[in-house]
Order: sequence, then C-alpha cells, then structure tokens
Amino acid sequence: MSSRKRWEALRWKLQFVRVLGTALLLCAFAGSALGHPTRLFLVGVGPGDPDLITLRAIETIKRADLIFCTDGIQDKFGEYLAGKEVVTGYWRLFEYYGADPETLPPGERQRAEELAKKRDEFIARVRQAIEQDKTVVILDNGDPLIYGPWSWCLEEFEDLHPTVVPGVSAFNAGNAAIGRGVTNASETKSVILSANDWPGKTDTIDKLAQLRATMVLFTMRADFNFFIEKLKTHYPPETPVAIVIQAGYKGKEQVIQSTLEKIQAEVVPEQLPFEYMIYVGDFLTFRHKRPAARALSGEHAH
Ligand SMILES: C[S@@+](CC[C@H](N)C(=O)[O-])C[C@H]1O[C@@H](n2cnc3c(N)ncnc32)[C@H](O)[C@@H]1O
Repeated sequence: MSSRKRWEALRWKLQFVRVLGTALLLCAFAGSALGHPTRLFLVGVGPGDPDLITLRAIETIKRADLIFCTDGIQDKFGEYLAGKEVVTGYWRLFEYYGADPETLPPGERQRAEELAKKRDEFIARVRQAIEQDKTVVILDNGDPLIYGPWSWCLEEFEDLHPTVVPGVSAFNAGNAAIGRGVTNASETKSVILSANDWPGKTDTIDKLAQLRATMVLFTMRADFNFFIEKLKTHYPPETPVAIVIQAGYKGKEQVIQSTLEKIQAEVVPEQLPFEYMIYVGDFLTFRHKRPAARALSGEHAH
C-alpha cells in the first residue's frame, strides 16, 4: 500500500474513533436527562449541636419547598428552616410498616391501625407535593440510615427515587467524645453497632458478645441493666465499658468509663437521657506503645 493510501486509511480510522466518542458522550447525556430527577430527599442533620450538620444537608434544605421533621429538629435548625413550609407531628411511623394489622393480636392491632392511618396521611402529603413539582425533604437526626426511624420511606417511595444525604451519626460523635480509635484493640479490629434484642432478630447481644470485638449499643430507652447483663455473658468482667451521654453537645457531653463488673454500681439508669450509648471492648484501654514499666523491666517494645 502506498504511503498516501496508508495515511488516508489512518485518517478514516481517526475520524471513526472521533464520531464514536461523540456518540457515546451524547448517549450519556441523554441517559442522565431521561433519568429521574430527585424531588424527595432523606437528610441526616447530625447529632448534638447544630454545627455538626453537613454543608450538603444545608444546601438540600435551601432547595426544599416542604420539610418534614420533629419539633426538636425544627428548634435546632430554625436558622435554616425560617420561611420554609415545615410539617412536624409525623414520628415513629416505621412501627408495623409492612405488617398486616389483621394478623396481629388484638392489643397491637389497634395501635397498628392507628399508625397505618397516620402513615397513609403522611404518604399522601408527600405524593401530593411531589405531583405539584415541590421538593420534599425529610430531616432526621444523626445519620438517617443508622437506626433511623425514616428508612422505611426509601421503600415506600421507591418509584420517586429518593436521595439520601448522609449525616454524622451519634456513633461518630461518641467516638470523638471517647477519643480513641474504635477499630484499634489488641486482639480485635471490628466494631459491632447494635441495639436492644427485638423479638424476631437472631443477632442477640450475647451472641455478638462472643467475638469480644468493640460493640456500640444504641439504647433507645431500653433497659440499661439488661444490656450490661447480656454483655457480661461473654466479655470478661474486667472488660472496659464507656457510657457516652449527649455526644456532640459542647459543655453537656459526658463519658463515664468503668468495667463491666463495676458499671451497674456507678450509673443510675433512671438518670440516663434518651441520648446515650454504651461502648464496650478493649479498645478503651488499648495503647500502641507498651507501658513504660514494661520497657523498664527489660522488654523491648516492637
Ligand atoms: C433512633 S436512634 C437514632 C440514631 C441516629 N440515626 C444516628 O445516626 O445517630 C437514637 C439513639 O441513638 C443514640 N444517640 C442519638 N444521639 C445521641 C447523642 N447525641 N449522644 C449519645 N447517643 C445518642 C442513643 O442511643 C439514642 O437512643
């Protein structure tokens, strides 16, 4: 083939690659334009003081036409919510979501039916607002997907393609309050987040305790002594434990450090607020450097 012909063939190949690239780019744009623009947001606003909210959460609030939240969140974020349509009063709607009230015992049935009514009312309000092209934002404490009471909405409004804006969790604020790496312990490297032993759940606290890894318990008004007794089944009595109260609130945050065998004598459960967590595990006393006394006794640190 002459050099002119080779050059001509190369030019055609280059042209073909350029056309193909442009076509692919156009397809990508068309795809996103055809994609579903989100008008429904589930937003985490962080724990503790208002300055633990994220910039993305604030931006999402600014775009909102209708906001659902608790009275507490409304008070805390009054600065950002001023002038917005804010609806409070829908809370704990997750209970019995997906359950058929007919299958429940009579005592529970009535409550399940009441909640279902309230939930349907909420769902209708959200859908109506979305049909009116409004941007709807549901605000939740901490991170909405860690023991969040609104996560059921992601299933309910699946067709609306809701977007989740992550939040700083009480777990993060609690870690900071303690001031230790929760994944740094002498024999373990994992953290288990757990809560009270609800009926029907197989990952009970005593089973999880068998690993002796770091465990963080979201308490949600459950019985303090029950938690400690369950932990004691597998963690040795001298295992360090920390109670973290009101993490993320400057001036109010409190950490009580003890051991599993002593903590019940040191804490009055009735005095604990809703916002407290239990941390357990060797990470609470773990040190990367060996104690000075050992080094002096002739052992070499490594
Ligand atoms: C329903 S859960 C919500 C957790 C939230 N989604 C999060 O990511 O932080 C509520 C529980 O979280 C824990 N909690 C929430 N805020 C807290 C805080 N500031 N300090 C300590 N614990 C907190 C408590 O155990 C409380 O009972």
